[in-house]
Amino acid sequence: MSKRFYVTTAIDYVNGQPHLGHAYEKVIADVIARARRSLGQETFFLTGLDEHGQKVQQAAVAEGKSPQAYCDELAAIWKAFAAKLELTNDDFVRTTEARHKQVVQAILSKLHAEGHFYKEVYRGFYSTREETFLTHKDRRPDGTFDPAYGEVVELDEENYYFRLKDHQQWLIDYIEQNPTFVAPAYRRNEVLGFLKNNVLEDLCISRPAARLNWGIPLPFDPDFVTYVWFDALSNYITIPAAQGDPGVPGSLRPQPSTLNPQLALWPADIHLVGKDILKFHAVYWPIMLKAMGAPLPKQVLAHGWWQKDGQRMSKSTGNVVDPIKVIDEWGVDAFRFYVLRELDIGPDGNWTEAGFKARYSAELANGLGNLVNRSLSMLKRYRNGIVPAQHDELSSRAVFLSEQVRGQLVENRLQDALQSIWALVTVGNQYVDQMAPFKLAKDPAKAERLDEVLYNLTEVCRILAVLLWPFLPGTAARINAQLGLPGAPDKFSGAHWGGLAPGHTIGTPTPLFPRKDP
Ligand code: MSP
Repeated sequence: MSKRFYVTTAIDYVNGQPHLGHAYEKVIADVIARARRSLGQETFFLTGLDEHGQKVQQAAVAEGKSPQAYCDELAAIWKAFAAKLELTNDDFVRTTEARHKQVVQAILSKLHAEGHFYKEVYRGFYSTREETFLTHKDRRPDGTFDPAYGEVVELDEENYYFRLKDHQQWLIDYIEQNPTFVAPAYRRNEVLGFLKNNVLEDLCISRPAARLNWGIPLPFDPDFVTYVWFDALSNYITIPAAQGDPGVPGSLRPQPSTLNPQLALWPADIHLVGKDILKFHAVYWPIMLKAMGAPLPKQVLAHGWWQKDGQRMSKSTGNVVDPIKVIDEWGVDAFRFYVLRELDIGPDGNWTEAGFKARYSAELANGLGNLVNRSLSMLKRYRNGIVPAQHDELSSRAVFLSEQVRGQLVENRLQDALQSIWALVTVGNQYVDQMAPFKLAKDPAKAERLDEVLYNLTEVCRILAVLLWPFLPGTAARINAQLGLPGAPDKFSGAHWGGLAPGHTIGTPTPLFPRKDP
């Protein structure tokens, strides 16, 4: 069996609240996964949770719970969140699962045995909130540390370090020779700039268990647990390894070997991550993989950050967008549409309620909703819902735009793809306005012309359902159902002209996006 297209998201911190940023990233990954499946590619979409670390341990203790019980409760909320977003993830990784921990330990044993680690005393500053060591370079001009680091304590402790210096040059060469490894291009330039202008400091890969025990013990020294980022990054390969992926080096697969030639995932095709964690994915992760002897992912795709009304979202100021509230009020497809249409993958975005409502009303209700509703209602009214003989007036435009969408999906240009789809919506709406089928219907001599117009409109609606499927799956399914077609429009091959059979009877037209009073 050939390798599946494998797309991952960042795994969210279990102790955070699911918010717009998390939802945005997961929806992008879902569209990419659905698009690949629609295009006929076997796909695997992985998302999940990052559950270890001091913050989780402290929060659990504060609530009088064991860290595992605390994580289990939160994981249920996050899984429900994924379902609410209608994600089609094939698996959901939790870093506290045995299958993940086992492979992380196999990775650590291998790297330790091959001499990648050494032990040393560290003296300096530590931020618990960011679970990271700080140096004087991290101080602000007035000598203090940024409040974003939370409480900063002075430490004097032994730890294990991963030698990174030998890896710097090959990584620079690799990124230069593989121009799409980090995308968009300006993020790639940032990574290259960082690598060329700094000497990589060795990465501390442990924390003393005496200070923090909510982590994966180092298999070669149980006085330490694995640093959360080493643990978390590994998820992308631990799940394929645990499932017996033949693309993962054999020494990392759990014993007895679970080799499953049917499931070839590694290397990942896309790691989708936010810009804030790009360095971990484009610098540390490739080095970890090289040391493991595993091929590198094809691409690290970095998206931007959302603000609300031009300000950073923060719970303390109440300036947050709660995706669940938006979905409950407007529907999941309205949410998915706004984030994907408003913001391309890369730059930062700004959520405004006015912007959301404007897109809902102009593009969803008056654009797509109106086209589908009036086209199907007219077919129902004038032809009893029976599809007339095939006519190809809009064929060339529909085929041209569908092919454009296909190319954009393959390149993960989701915002562009939505623009192309809406170009077809506009073609349909203008056609109604120009052909005025309601006038044709009044003149029996124009019955044949009315048949032609109705065929073109109904067929455009059918093709739109296919093109929309990865983005707005519920809406696409509803259009299909209103067309009286079975199943979901989840195969891109259905976007060819002439799929609607003359004589077929459509279902009942109902508004897709009810207009809301302002
Ligand atoms: N647990 C780490 C990731 C480990 S991946 C091996 C983490 N978790 S997080 O919960 O803080 O963030 C998860 C993802 O959400 C990141 O990709 C992050 O960039 C994204 N976002 C968090 N806030 C965001 C916005 N305001 N806007 C867009 N995405 C943002 O980091």
